[in-house]
Amino acid sequence: MKSYTVSELLSQHITPNSEVEIKGWVRTFRANRFIALNDGSTLNNIQCVVDFENFDEALLKRITTGAAIHIKGDLVESQGKGQSVEIQANFVDVLGDSDPETYPIQPKKHSFEFLRENAHLRTRTNTFSAVMRLRSALSFAIHKYFNENGFYYMHAPIITGSDAEGAGEMFRVTSLDSKKPPLNEAGEVDYSKDFFGKETNLTVSGQLEAETYAMSLGKVYTFGPTFRAENSNTSRHLAEFWMIEPEVAFMDLPGNMDLAEDFMKSVIKYVLENNKEDLEFLDKRLQDEDKKKPQAERSPMTLIEKLKFVTDNNFKRVSYTEAIDILRNSKPNKKKKFKYIIDEWGADLQSEHERYLVEKHFNCPVILFDYPANIKAFYMRLNDDGKTVRAMDILFPGIGEIVGGAQREERLDVLKEKMAAINIPEEELWWYLDLRKFGTAVHSGFGLGFERLVMFATGMSNIRDVIPFPRTPQNAEF
Ligand code: 4AD
Ligand code: MG
Repeated sequence: MKSYTVSELLSQHITPNSEVEIKGWVRTFRANRFIALNDGSTLNNIQCVVDFENFDEALLKRITTGAAIHIKGDLVESQGKGQSVEIQANFVDVLGDSDPETYPIQPKKHSFEFLRENAHLRTRTNTFSAVMRLRSALSFAIHKYFNENGFYYMHAPIITGSDAEGAGEMFRVTSLDSKKPPLNEAGEVDYSKDFFGKETNLTVSGQLEAETYAMSLGKVYTFGPTFRAENSNTSRHLAEFWMIEPEVAFMDLPGNMDLAEDFMKSVIKYVLENNKEDLEFLDKRLQDEDKKKPQAERSPMTLIEKLKFVTDNNFKRVSYTEAIDILRNSKPNKKKKFKYIIDEWGADLQSEHERYLVEKHFNCPVILFDYPANIKAFYMRLNDDGKTVRAMDILFPGIGEIVGGAQREERLDVLKEKMAAINIPEEELWWYLDLRKFGTAVHSGFGLGFERLVMFATGMSNIRDVIPFPRTPQNAEF
């Protein structure tokens, strides 16, 4: 007798009437006869039929929602509606009991807030198992894309001494005794006595290290956890999130845009083709939610339509300067509906502006480029106008910024000036400057926030619901 997953049993590759064996968790047990069993391999349950005459009553009592069970029986064509095959059980064993009184995941609708508090069990629901299978598929699609396009996967360090984004939003890594740290003559904590002999933090981005690999291996990407101690308690920010950062030698900004667009389309296409079942489930969930809203707030597209829209249409490329003109003349700006009114060139764009451009004005993904130098990171290449840099952000409907990237400043003198202007000591980034001394070249890259991609692909509206155990201000449970 062979052991199968539910996904294999339902795939119709198994000859009916063969003897099969399966293990999983009980979703429901109906009429003392029908077990809906799920093992996470697919959204669908397999129905297992137990003839209660053949089983001990005490055993049947233990088949409760959430219990882990082991079943052997014959795979037969189903008599009932809703499934093609079912198992006629001739052996049932309860591997792990579940107390029906206290098991949090009851067979009913739970709020996402409640499930977040039970994040260790929430993947036993349809919605969260579908989201996490999609998250896994998207990771695979990302590695597949880069692998097929000649990129090397590079592991950037997690502990670092530099602040790549220069935003000062870092978590310190230290082994000093917090109660009595060693002090220097000035009475400050003496980090030369710390584990690494200097101040270190969790990385905010692997980009600077990835640049060193691009300038030797040519085309590389990172895919790892990044950490930001920004105190923004929004539905789009995490303190720990995963980022994908390709970096390519001899590639300029238009090349970077082409790569990002092709890459995003490719990974979305992958899940459209390979994760239909989960996507259709999430799509239906969203449509049901939508029906409860007033007409004006309903989404004009279903989830799958939205994904196809991205794969089938060109991203609109717009300079920051054009975007500012559009925003300045927009209705919400004139009627002071924006929280932050745009009146001058140079203003940083807020999420409300990004979403206006994408969702109201252009109605498609937008790549904004050539931002003012002073609202972007130090490593971006200065344009000849002396005031803008070769930056690009990709904005997606419902998400806002999903990708941030740039052509990098490859000229040693310009880079040194920019670092000096914001007080980054050359000693801290001597190795980064070396790249500009020895065989410097045009190069570019970008960072995709993985969870924002998962949000887009699943239609989930809170970033806490697309990562297994979210880390946010005041919360590091599990
Ligand atoms: O725009 P960011 O800060 O760019 C960088 O870190 C560059 N070093 C990337 C590069 O050029 N290699 O971050 C990139 C993306 C954002 O567009 C966003 O999708 C995501 O990372 N992101 C976050 N996602 C979740 N929570 C946060 N706190 C995030 N901060 C940025
Ligand atoms: Mg950014």
